[in-house]
Amino acid sequence: MAEHNLQNIDLDKYPHINKGLDGIVAFSTTKSFIDGKSGDLIFSGYHIDTLAENATFEEVCFLLWNDRLPNEQELDDLHQKLRSERKLPEPVLTYIKTTRKTAEPMAVLRTAVSMLADFQDDSSDTMDHAIAVTAQIPTIIAAFDRARNDKDIIEPLDEGSTAFNFLYMLNGEEPGEAAERTMDLCLVIHAEHGMNASTFTARTICATQSDMFSAVTGAIGALKGPLHGGANTAVMNMLLDLEEKEGKDADPVAFTKEKLSKKEKMMGFGHRVYKTFDPRAVHLRKMSKKLSEETGHEYLYEWSEAMVKTMKDEKGIDPNVDFFSATVYYSLGIKPDLYTCIFTMSRISGWTAHFFEQKENNRLIRPRALYVGEKNLEWVPVEDR
Ligand code: CMC
Repeated sequence: MAEHNLQNIDLDKYPHINKGLDGIVAFSTTKSFIDGKSGDLIFSGYHIDTLAENATFEEVCFLLWNDRLPNEQELDDLHQKLRSERKLPEPVLTYIKTTRKTAEPMAVLRTAVSMLADFQDDSSDTMDHAIAVTAQIPTIIAAFDRARNDKDIIEPLDEGSTAFNFLYMLNGEEPGEAAERTMDLCLVIHAEHGMNASTFTARTICATQSDMFSAVTGAIGALKGPLHGGANTAVMNMLLDLEEKEGKDADPVAFTKEKLSKKEKMMGFGHRVYKTFDPRAVHLRKMSKKLSEETGHEYLYEWSEAMVKTMKDEKGIDPNVDFFSATVYYSLGIKPDLYTCIFTMSRISGWTAHFFEQKENNRLIRPRALYVGEKNLEWVPVEDR
């Protein structure tokens, strides 16, 4: 049906509802392409396998923001800008230090990012703002984790990559090369992914001509949910619960089958677009195997593989990006409730890229809902109800 006719649909006569907007194409984009059947993922022209093998997170940021790779000078400039923006405004730090220690890290991140808007010199949404928020999110996450554990907050470095600086601020010591590369690869892999719920949220907010910080704050709220970015934390909690209840001899096959028989979802499995193995999970699976062996968590990796096989055999469903990322972060010694924050640290690049793209070619996003309630009820005075 031509687009202009859609507005004239009489929803009473043609009650077509696309619950979950499954398969609806609402935008064009140069940011990413997903082939859900073949399991291919492309960021602005480059296959995820190529990027996973070669790119750093900063190169991916530049790529998504400019639709091309940076030359050496441009990459160096971006590194410098990101480093110079890492510090937080004092009131944001005060909030992080004084908020409830038991607050959810994603909720703290959402509030702190929203506060950052008040400290921008001008209200126009520029690339400098995108760089600032990308640089400051890791500082917020690390600062909150240290504050809630009564540890001194560590100032960001004015050198090193985003991955290096984040691990340094979180742990208080410089990470080794392998840990830095693992974190960097995770940031590369999670940077962008089409019209997922948080990106759609960011574009919807942008389309009202609201500002970038509002769009990013809304996107963080969407990412937080366990059906979206919150799944990585849920995966780790699922594995740790299993260990707590049944010890290291737990039976992951029986556990998976029981969950399925109760019609419960296995976290980290299934995807709206991929009907095959998520190409990001391929890389994370390799990392998970290597790191689990190195850190003595082989059993967690073996359980994960047993769950993958059982889900495939029983339901024909493959793991998504969140499944193996959980054990990767766990092996890096990161607390499970920070995993979705790390997803945010990376996806900020995709959200801001989409924000600029939406702004350049904007139209208000405003779908319809089919009204299924009563009509023409008679008013009953309050004392008679
Ligand atoms: N465990 C068990 N069954 C599942 C799962 C799962 N993880 N995912 C889908 N199914 C089943 C579901 O029960 C349904 O079966 P039936 O037709 O027999 O009722 C069928 O598959 C279709 O499921 P759906 O929930 O209608 O599919 P969807 O396209 O709406 O859901 C999803 C996609 C990601 C919300 C869903 O797969 C899910 O809830 N997965 C678990 C949460 C998760 O891992 N989320 C991360 C998504 S990827 C990263 C990201 O975007 O952030």
